[in-house]
Amino acid sequence: MDEYDLVITNGVCVTAADVAPLDIAIRDGTIVLLAPSGLLSKARTKRLIDAEGGYVMPGGVDCHVHLQEPSMFGKGTSADSYETGTRSAIAGGTTTIIAFAPQQKNVDSVLTALTNTHALAQNNSFCDYGFHVLVANPCEKALSEFEQLASVEGVTSLKIYMTYEALQLRDNEILSVLLAARSNHILTMIHAENGDVLAWLTEKLEAAKLFAPKYHGHSHAPILESEATNRAIALSSLVADTPILLVHVSEPAAALRIRAAQTVGQPIFAETCPQYLFLTRDDLDQPGFEGAKCVCAPPPRDADDQKAIWRGLQNGTFAVLSSDHCPFRFDDAVTGKKTCISDEFPVGKFRHIPNGIPGIETRLPLVFSARKLELTKFVEVTSTNAAKLYGLYPRKGGIIPGVSDADLVVWYPEGRLGEFPLTNDLLHHDVDYTPYEGRMLRNWPRYTILRGKVIWDRDEGGIVGERSYGRFLKRQESSLNGIWQTVEEDGPFDLEKL
Ligand SMILES: *[C@@H]1O[C@H](CO)[C@@H](O)[C@H](O)[C@H]1NC(C)=O
Ligand SMILES: *[C@@H]1O[C@H](CO)[C@@H](O)[C@H](O)[C@H]1NC(C)=O
Repeated sequence: MDEYDLVITNGVCVTAADVAPLDIAIRDGTIVLLAPSGLLSKARTKRLIDAEGGYVMPGGVDCHVHLQEPSMFGKGTSADSYETGTRSAIAGGTTTIIAFAPQQKNVDSVLTALTNTHALAQNNSFCDYGFHVLVANPCEKALSEFEQLASVEGVTSLKIYMTYEALQLRDNEILSVLLAARSNHILTMIHAENGDVLAWLTEKLEAAKLFAPKYHGHSHAPILESEATNRAIALSSLVADTPILLVHVSEPAAALRIRAAQTVGQPIFAETCPQYLFLTRDDLDQPGFEGAKCVCAPPPRDADDQKAIWRGLQNGTFAVLSSDHCPFRFDDAVTGKKTCISDEFPVGKFRHIPNGIPGIETRLPLVFSARKLELTKFVEVTSTNAAKLYGLYPRKGGIIPGVSDADLVVWYPEGRLGEFPLTNDLLHHDVDYTPYEGRMLRNWPRYTILRGKVIWDRDEGGIVGERSYGRFLKRQESSLNGIWQTVEEDGPFDLEKL
């Protein structure tokens, strides 16, 4: 009788806390034992993987993923389904995603949005998944459903927008959401850009006949983000310091404001994404329509801004590094970026370019290859903190015997692959480009393992998992830095205290 289902030997284990040569034994989908390196090389096991000195880490947790959402802006539809998006995720070392269940403005329920999204994902996911609800219509009914979301449905986070007509909430609506989220221990994610300023700048640019993709960058000037970030933090503090997470922070002034709030102990969390580490304004400023490949919001900024964002990752300002995978095909005039091109506007109109870029598969390899984060920090921001922030730890994001699911990435031994360019034909999404074409990489996940099963084996079979293997994850409340304990100590929102 085999004692284990899978043993990984000769790996260097990296967690958010430590780097150590350890063997890992797995049974029934769970990590059951860590042992000194080599000790398990002769264990009785159904399968043995020799990591040959490569790094072994908890599987990536990507907590910001858009798949198969209904078109909110009347422009473009998602290039990836749950099937193709999660296929791409596992090939890049990600074993858990949290995607969005979007409520439409004209719908009064958020539970309906959740049901609809379950139907899309069920039996269609290669990796495990959870949902954030996207609240576009915070009417009384929707707010009253928050309790069920958190306590029954296992959805302990939501997202709101301060921009985009189809989604934008006014400040009073934001306060109502925060208050309801607070009493149900739901974490609120905020897209902080000032939608009114965006509309105004867009009109000014168009009046000056400036339509090319690069003007998308001008229309999303940094001040939109820093102003809205400041306002979001102020609104959170009014509602007795309700925890919020600023998504996809791109800009140093916003990062600095977040840091200042954290320094005085406010429960303010922040996320950034590879596009703010690897792309700049110059990538939007390509001949013709090419720049549309990098159109996302906020837009890529300047080289100095990139440095500040790296620093924010290194110094703990950003808790998580997610992909914000939001894919549209490029050479596609029916669903993709080119829907905004017409005879009158041969380089399109930046206002109508579908916003978003693919990145679910490239997140880990790009950041790992850049070698700008310590290994433990890399695991912390790409896996462990995401699991803690969204109530999945220690089942996900860790390697704790008897407790953690056996979700792992095994990298090649350093140097084995040499340096090689990233090209779109290496990727498994359903998108016809990557914004990172030609970037040099130094490593790639060799195996991705989910609940003890190898689902990606780069050398033998590639995608070897199945699209019905991924499970829905009911999540607990956020545990990062014990945020809800700290918040409760401050007492509830009290009008008399204002
Ligand atoms: C999902 O797949 C399982 C097993 O393959 C099957 O039993 C179940 O009926 C499927 N559910 C749906 C909704 O298709
Ligand atoms: C940490 O990084 C952020 C973002 O770049 C920056 O604003 C802040 O000054 C840095 N703080 C420290 C203590 O280095």
